[in-house]
Amino acid sequence: METSLALVGLQLQPSYLPCPSRRASTLLPANFFTDRRHLPLSYLKLQNQRSLISSRPQVACTICRGTAVSNSETFELDDIDWDDLGFGLVPTDYMYVAKCSKDGNFSKGDLQCFGNIEMNPSSGVLNYGQGLFEGLKAYRKLDGSILLFRPDENALRMRMGAERMCMPAPTTEQFVEATKMTVLANKRWVPPPGKGSLYIRPLLMGSGAVLGLAPAPEYTFLIYVSPVGNYFKEGLAPINLVVENEFHRATPGGTGGVKTIGNYASVLKAQSLAKAKGFSDVLYLDSVHKKYLEEVSSCNVFVVKRTTISTPAIKGTILPGITRKSIIDVAHSLGFQVEERLVSVEELLDADEVFCTGTAVVVSPVGSITYLGERVSYGKTGVGAVSQQLYSSLTSLQMGLSEDKMGWTVELM
Ligand code: COI
Repeated sequence: METSLALVGLQLQPSYLPCPSRRASTLLPANFFTDRRHLPLSYLKLQNQRSLISSRPQVACTICRGTAVSNSETFELDDIDWDDLGFGLVPTDYMYVAKCSKDGNFSKGDLQCFGNIEMNPSSGVLNYGQGLFEGLKAYRKLDGSILLFRPDENALRMRMGAERMCMPAPTTEQFVEATKMTVLANKRWVPPPGKGSLYIRPLLMGSGAVLGLAPAPEYTFLIYVSPVGNYFKEGLAPINLVVENEFHRATPGGTGGVKTIGNYASVLKAQSLAKAKGFSDVLYLDSVHKKYLEEVSSCNVFVVKRTTISTPAIKGTILPGITRKSIIDVAHSLGFQVEERLVSVEELLDADEVFCTGTAVVVSPVGSITYLGERVSYGKTGVGAVSQQLYSSLTSLQMGLSEDKMGWTVELM
């Protein structure tokens, strides 16, 4: 068995049909799921190979308990325009849910149809913001398989954040397994190669009821997914940032360095004001000296001067981005000098290139910075050479177009 699996390059992984509630809305004929004539040729070929080597596990939605699951995996989404994906929620088939009560251990967790969840009005997350989120992506390779990018790093970051927020956290293994399960269950929503990615959003919430301020007595770990394209409406074109001088994102001793939900609600005011003036987003300064760069609302920032790339050091107020960390390693491997340190606003204005990194934004070049009403532009021809080189190196690795010498990708079939 092992030999034949290796020969065809397949792994035994569960796969799922659309949840019945989602299937109903597609108005498919009743025999669609059994009549092989509806299935694409490429899929049938794959199934023929697979039927020789495996009988496949079956898992169904634990809520609707429909006849959702067989060994079929590809139901093409005729009504989705893969060329027109932005960064907005597209509801998919399944989400993963696990609970944890006072003993601190999470239940095994299971897949449920994607949809609204019930929450006690007195829950810790709704009342006191006791919640964390993560973001990672799955890409479809040219051969149809799927790559996750560094899911273990997200698991570790969630565990660090949970410690700061007095929450129990799933183990790294549970996090990674749950992520794989959720992606496989929603496999048909992973965009074709080059058309975007499946954004994976794990949540950890204090879901138990509390009235006085205290950690919640129960927690929910949930993962949902959505196909996405570019984060900024500019696409890959350079964005225009404004340096914020009044509002701050984080303070020393606070929670800026963890991915708690409150860090994101608190930037909405400055971000809305900036967007109303035509800027793409806001770049925050440190709250003590108002002089050193911190990060943009949803991503980290890098400054390029000749062959040196600098980025603010992680010292509690800045989110330890996984794309940030990856770009630092990629830049080193390409021969750049990378410095993690205090980076002043003067250096920013004097830079050759500036770019942002994040899971959602990937690598986003900055076209201009406005500081105290003065605008500085970078380059005349769109994306800078260093930003372009780093973007290409990272994304070709994430999409499986180049060899993953770093061992960062996890392949799913
Ligand atoms: C991500 O890049 O995954 C984030 O969490 C940022 C979010 C505001 C979209």
